[in-house]
Amino acid sequence: MEESVVQQIEDLRAQCLGCAKCELAGTRRNVVFGEGNPESPLMIIGEGPGMNEDATGRPFVGRAGALLDEALAACRIGRQHVFICNVLKCRACITENGRTRNRPPAPAEIEVCTQWLERQIQVIQPLVILCLGAPSAKFVIKKDFKMTQERGIFYPTRYARYAIAALHPAYILRQAGQSYDGGKSLLISDIESARKKVIEAKKEPKPTLF
Ligand code: URA
Repeated sequence: MEESVVQQIEDLRAQCLGCAKCELAGTRRNVVFGEGNPESPLMIIGEGPGMNEDATGRPFVGRAGALLDEALAACRIGRQHVFICNVLKCRACITENGRTRNRPPAPAEIEVCTQWLERQIQVIQPLVILCLGAPSAKFVIKKDFKMTQERGIFYPTRYARYAIAALHPAYILRQAGQSYDGGKSLLISDIESARKKVIEAKKEPKPTLF
């Protein structure tokens, strides 16, 4: 008998927690596999864990996570309704003068780590993927994705029937005044678009050969 989606995702989690495919295995405190409802039609994919996520093993638990939760709540979505994970499962960081800060993921890290993301997507089979930030959109939608011109638009992809990208909450947090308010409104409207698209897509006939 085939394993349930929940069991499959837990098996994958167990394998992922022991990953040593790249050097981040040597500096991480925790692998951040992802969490939520693996049977959800909506999957949210961010960039990678930061300090708080590395410390807890949970995605989006810092300030960016609080903003994401607020934006989801504005669309009446709770964490239990979606599956949230990242392109990278371990924190990419550099230490200089005794201080550690996040850095963008290296292409080689994305290449090896997205084997896990691909397997997560295969198990979850989301109808809609919401990409938070450019690294996620470049992986899911297209390599040359441009956030300013192309966020808020649905694309058909090999990973889900539809994918849409939104500004990353951490980017919005770096804005001030009107730019912050505007960024937050765009994030909420893109999440709302994704929510509506799930409802629409559920009504579409399933593409099948037989
Ligand atoms: N930023 C991300 O992209 N993912 C997290 O889990 C936290 C912050």
